[in-house]
Amino acid sequence: MLADRVAVLTPAPAARIGQIWQVDVARPRDREGVNADATYQRLRKEIVDYLGALNEQSGSVGESTVALPNVTPLDLAPPPQAYRDAARSAVDKRYLEFFRLDKVYPTPKGPLKVVEDFNLLMDRGEFISLIGHSGCGKSTVLSMAAGLNAISGGGIVLDNREITAAGPDKAVVFQAPSLMPWLTARENVALGVERVYPHAAKAERADIIDYYLDRVGLGDATDKMAAEMSNGMRQRVGIARAFALSPRLLLLDEPFGMLDSLTRWDLQDVLVETWNRTKVTAIMVTHDVDEAILLADRVVMMTNGPRATIGKILTVDLPRPRNRKELLEHPQFYQYRQEVLHFLAEYDHGPATKAA
Ligand SMILES: Nc1ncnc2c1ncn2[C@@H]1O[C@H](COP(=O)(O)OP(=O)(O)OP(=O)(O)O)[C@@H](O)[C@H]1O
Ligand SMILES: [Mg+2]
Repeated sequence: MLADRVAVLTPAPAARIGQIWQVDVARPRDREGVNADATYQRLRKEIVDYLGALNEQSGSVGESTVALPNVTPLDLAPPPQAYRDAARSAVDKRYLEFFRLDKVYPTPKGPLKVVEDFNLLMDRGEFISLIGHSGCGKSTVLSMAAGLNAISGGGIVLDNREITAAGPDKAVVFQAPSLMPWLTARENVALGVERVYPHAAKAERADIIDYYLDRVGLGDATDKMAAEMSNGMRQRVGIARAFALSPRLLLLDEPFGMLDSLTRWDLQDVLVETWNRTKVTAIMVTHDVDEAILLADRVVMMTNGPRATIGKILTVDLPRPRNRKELLEHPQFYQYRQEVLHFLAEYDHGPATKAA
């Protein structure tokens, strides 16, 4: 968006300048304006395709030869069939409910209501992206759903149970993965798996661990210590660990925020792929508009704080399974992108001006 020319470096080792693009887009440029520009769209697609092709040689999404055993996490053992039949439709539809959720933080100047009257209903198996300006309260909402942050008003109900405490049924992936540095990839994932599958056979637990490490492309690095890994690899372990828990709810707080964009794409692909297979109910906080649309069934946009709430919800009606390349060719994609960019631009001038 900023440059006159874009030069792409090929991957190391022996990196060199690959293709160069001339950016013939009129100046001054702004995010919303260029979004609708045909040249911009074409360049974006060409560069993404080129980078994607370079990247494919390294291979990002892992295949797995391990078959997943048929075991259910301890606290997810199903209720009796009759109960399930009676409850199914209702629970699938209102699987997760945020009901008039408030969050008040104490500050030196007195209590501050950061989030106010946040209401959202999610279906089982839905993927929601949560986007909004820095400091609006995205992490606050997510950490309340994780049971890690006290709720000041209203409530959150997950699968018919009110969320009151953290637990492995609500898996969280943060920007910086919280791994035990002295443990290997396998041992880090095993910590969680042992907790939710204590009733499974040892071999079944091993299969679960191997399956997800394969899926995130770490099949060859299962015995590497976390301390010896790159950030991208650590985040892969974090994702494998979260999925291996078969959680009721997967919460991701800017999971790729620390990574460069190529690694980011790799991991987005890993996430898309793994999610396609599990369809776990998920909420992901992100600042990246493309990422928000690529992954989500709905993009939830938050107003600025204090007293932040949901400003707009965009339903992403694009076919699944999705991949980045096809998405960039989809006529609807830039329309969605425009809607999110426009919302963000509207709230770009601080909380007071437009939030009312
Ligand atoms: N423990 C706390 N005590 C007091 N204020 C807090 C606390 N945690 C967060 N806040 C404030 O609440 C607001 C929302 O913070 P939060 O981290 O949820 O925002 P965010 O949308 O995740 O921002 P970012 O995009 O930068 O991660 C901010 O103004 C922040 O300063
Ligand atoms: Mg945050």
